[in-house]
Amino acid sequence: MTRVVLIHGVLLVACFLVTSLPAAPTLLFQGFNWESCNQQGGLYNSLFNSIDDLAAAGVTHIWLPPPSQSAAPQGYMPGRLYDLNASNYGNEQELKSLIRSFNNKGIKAVADIVINHRTAEKQDGRGIWCIFEGGTADDRLDWGPSFICKNDTEYSDGNGNPDTGEPFPPAPDIDHLNPRVQKELSDWMNWLKTDLGFDGWRFDYVRGYSSSIANVYMTNTSPEFAVGEYWNSVAIGQDGKLEYNQDRHRNEIMKWVQESGGGSLTAFDFTTKFILQVAVEGELWRLIDPNGKPPGLIGILPENAVTFIDNHDTGSTQKISPFPSDKVMQGYAYILTHPGIPSLFYDHFFDWGLKDELTKLSGVRTRNGITATSQVKILAYEADLYVAAIDERIIVKIGPKMDLGNLIPGNFQLATSGESYAVWEQKP
Ligand SMILES: *[C@@H]1O[C@H](CO)[C@@H](O)[C@H](O)[C@H]1NC(C)=O
Ligand SMILES: *[C@@H]1O[C@H](CO)[C@@H](O)[C@H](O)[C@H]1NC(C)=O
Repeated sequence: MTRVVLIHGVLLVACFLVTSLPAAPTLLFQGFNWESCNQQGGLYNSLFNSIDDLAAAGVTHIWLPPPSQSAAPQGYMPGRLYDLNASNYGNEQELKSLIRSFNNKGIKAVADIVINHRTAEKQDGRGIWCIFEGGTADDRLDWGPSFICKNDTEYSDGNGNPDTGEPFPPAPDIDHLNPRVQKELSDWMNWLKTDLGFDGWRFDYVRGYSSSIANVYMTNTSPEFAVGEYWNSVAIGQDGKLEYNQDRHRNEIMKWVQESGGGSLTAFDFTTKFILQVAVEGELWRLIDPNGKPPGLIGILPENAVTFIDNHDTGSTQKISPFPSDKVMQGYAYILTHPGIPSLFYDHFFDWGLKDELTKLSGVRTRNGITATSQVKILAYEADLYVAAIDERIIVKIGPKMDLGNLIPGNFQLATSGESYAVWEQKP
């Protein structure tokens, strides 16, 4: 009897191994844009209707906007951090049930953590905005001028430690060397985990404080996933054009990730974005570095690089550095087939009608087991043609050139394609 059961068990295990699909690769979705604060009925309520579409596209993490009361409607000038009922995106209850609904479909929520600066609730006796309130009945996060960096020139009453990073002129820069600041902000982030259900962080403006400070918040809150916005400037040549070599740019981001502790902490791959959006304009030769690897952060630290095409700042209605709008799908064909952790942007998925094309590309990534550390072999890098094989399982082509010579072996078949891009996978 025992024997039969045992054999049965072994057979079941063997069957499971043969039929199980590769684990879903991490795919981040930015669930808002610059105008989402004006969404009728609130962003949180509107996102409920999209959970199935996002799950079908293979999304594993959704990045939500800063949830706290803020002096600006988008949430990036937060004040009463514990007050989640004063947001244009919706209230605390709606946010909690939205996260629970995402979790039920296997999608984790990532909170936008804006802690470099903070807006005050009241003025002091001299008329300076420096009295902070946390949004709770007790004194958590109730701070005064001694919590503002002493060399914050816009808020000259600050008498905390000097700032450890770049200044943020529109609001007081918080003194993150103050142990009470570290403790109370960590407690607040842990509250977002335990009470709201967030699993990860997107750190806003990390150049505003040192990497060792970022490491403190990572250590104190142990997120499952985190990504930092280290937004630095690319090298521009005398001719006003993007220089070919952007190693300084990607090395700065890599240094930040490593000094901040690495591990589950990643950084947005601004290098790939800035090179890719120039490359798709007839300069695809840019997509290889002197070592034969991708020229962005994914070429040197792929497991900690989050690739993206646009976000609420670079694109949307702000358009600080938008990807060429007619070539966005070529950009996605690149990041959804290459190493790194790709991300999708709200506008492209919902407003630009690209949901089906993006879902197909993500499906090719998943079923071929492409991961953040997959290997890239670059096969062509001309002005109008880029071809690469990833893990020798898929081949991607971007650019308008049609004649591919004999770059696609006979044992590969077309998996998906669109305007100026195509992806092949091995025949079964
Ligand atoms: C926000 O509303 C919830 C009820 O939905 C309540 O439990 C919480 O205390 C409120 N927070 C604030 C800061 O008013
Ligand atoms: C504040 O002082 C620190 C330490 O001297 C310096 O690194 C930082 O750049 C200064 N920031 C501003 C805004 O002056």
